[in-house]
Order: sequence, then structure tokens, then C-alpha cells
Amino acid sequence: MRKKIVAGNWKMHKNAEQTEDLLNELIAKLPTVSEAQVIVAPTFVNLASAVAHLEFTTIEVAAQNVHQAESGAFTGEVSADMLKSVGVNYVILGHSERRAIFKETDALIANKVDTALKHELTVIFCFGEELKDRQTGNHFNVVENQLTDGLFQIEKESWANVILAYEPVWAIGTGETASPEQAQEMHEFIRETVRKAFGKEIAEEVSILYGGSVKPENAKEIFSKADVDGGLIGGAALKADDFVAIVTAI
Ligand code: 13P
Repeated sequence: MRKKIVAGNWKMHKNAEQTEDLLNELIAKLPTVSEAQVIVAPTFVNLASAVAHLEFTTIEVAAQNVHQAESGAFTGEVSADMLKSVGVNYVILGHSERRAIFKETDALIANKVDTALKHELTVIFCFGEELKDRQTGNHFNVVENQLTDGLFQIEKESWANVILAYEPVWAIGTGETASPEQAQEMHEFIRETVRKAFGKEIAEEVSILYGGSVKPENAKEIFSKADVDGGLIGGAALKADDFVAIVTAI
């Protein structure tokens, strides 16, 4: 059975003290036994302390980015080896904010994916169409191309370390969520796209998360869909009560 996962992408929020406070609240309030793997992604500077803080819990820590090179003169960047060395096991790649604001291309994301997998980081691979793509009926094409050009270069064996996160750009931070039916329709298409390229077994095993304005009020209905295996949560991951409610909705 494939894994249920709820991940919180904290983006550029929470300083050191606020990170510790939120983690403490999560440790206190999250159910000790849960069907879902919980992952949190604080900013780079708070990753090491988060790992230390969560040592005796089942909560995992993700980075929000990684550089594609092993090391070198890349002022301001962080390598996969550095992440592993502080105990980080996951990395979010391909997020629409990285694509849109920081101009990350599919080719660059593919490079980052390869580097991350080489260092045994599990990749949370984000992708999703913009509003104009959906309005023109091009959303399936866009998603297929993002998968093909950013991810499908990996070896079959690497799929055990890949989580997919479908995040329609028009639903991120807007309060507008894809309807459960829209999410299911796209997730089914994504699984079929993986099946065509890598076979049934991998397609059935890979967890596909939905992201975009998931809240306690809508989580249960979205998570109830057959091909939705959890969520990648932005705004609602910054409040312990909301995040816990979303985790328990699974
Ligand atoms: P929101 O939940 O704030 O819409 O953000 C989703 C997201 O971008 C998670 O990566």
C-alpha cells in the first residue's frame, strides 16, 4: 500500500524561536500513531535545529531547495551533502515559486533531482499548471511536460525516493482550492502518465500529494479521493492546530 503523507512547506516564515515553538506545539498535538508520514520544511537556517528537536519523533524534515552542484563557488547556495550532514532526508524541488520567481527551468530542476537522489535525499517533486493553462484546456499537457522534462530522466530504482506533489498554481495561497473532483481527475492522469513511462508497479506505489489552499475545512474531502495520497500544505502549516487537523483528516 502506498504511503499517506502530509508535508508542511513553511516557505520564508518562522525565525529560530518561532520554529522551535511551532515544532513543540506539533510534538504535543500530533497523534503519536498516525497513518500519515508527517514532514516539515523550515528554512535552511533552522534545519539543523529542527532535526535535533525532532530526533525522538516520527516527524521528518525537508529542505525547500538544494543546489545541483556537489560544491564550489556558488555564493549563497546549499549542497545536498550539507543537507544530509545535518540529518535532512527530504527536499522539495520544482515548487512553482522557484519556477516563477527564481526562474528555475525544467532542465535545472532535473539536474537538482539527480543530485538530490544521488545523495539519497527523497525528492518531493512539485509541478502544476497556471490558471491560463487550465482556462485554455492545456493543463494536462503542461503537467505531462513538467514530469517528462524535470523528473522522468531518473532510473526506475529511484522511484522509491520520489514523492509527487501536484500544486495547481492558481490554487496556491489564493484561498481557491481545486475541487476534490478536479484534484482526483489530475491525480489519476498523473498516475497514468507514470504508468506509461515506468510501469504499473511504480505508478501504484508512488504517493501523489495535492497542494494549494488545503485547510482543515477541505482536507477530508480532498484526501478521500482515490488517487490523492496526502497534501503539501503552505499557509495552514504555519499554525499547529490547523496542520494537526489536516494530518488527522487523512
Ligand atoms: P498554500 O497551502 O498556502 O496554498 O500553499 C501551498 C504550497 O505552495 C505548498 O507548497
